[in-house]
Amino acid sequence: MAILQILEFPDPRLRTKAAPVVEFNDTLQAFVEDMKTTMYDANGIGLAATQVNVHQRIVVIDVSENNDNAQVFINPSIDVLDELMHEYDEGCLSIPGFYETVKRPEHIRITAQDVHGETFTLEPDGVLAVCIQHEIDHLDGKLFVDYISSMKRNRIRKKLEKQHRQKA
Ligand code: NI
Repeated sequence: MAILQILEFPDPRLRTKAAPVVEFNDTLQAFVEDMKTTMYDANGIGLAATQVNVHQRIVVIDVSENNDNAQVFINPSIDVLDELMHEYDEGCLSIPGFYETVKRPEHIRITAQDVHGETFTLEPDGVLAVCIQHEIDHLDGKLFVDYISSMKRNRIRKKLEKQHRQKA
């Protein structure tokens, strides 16, 4: 199992729209294991394939207390069940060190496939509902900073660009 490199904002590759997974094979399973390893190594609760520069619709999430219940969502989509919105302070492994309040639908239904291609549905609440929407955004090339003011977004971009220059 490998730890994959996580792209950081404002890397333009994070804006790529991911393609649906069509082949459910060993390569996919091995990649999903690498995604889990990468997510745990980075102390994250979710990771989209886009963030490791693989532009396929694959998400791993673990919102359990002991980090021992990774959930895999392939080709995920959501239906919004009512108009209730929920505010949550979101962070992102691609925007390290920054947290901003984002408002999203609270009651959703997820439809996705597992690593074997079996379709399942889930009506999550709490953090999982927030997290899956955040991760699906990644697959569509969107980031949580797209929901905040351009002034705040530019401030975050400048700080991260400075860090990237110092690391280079
Ligand atoms: Ni993220």
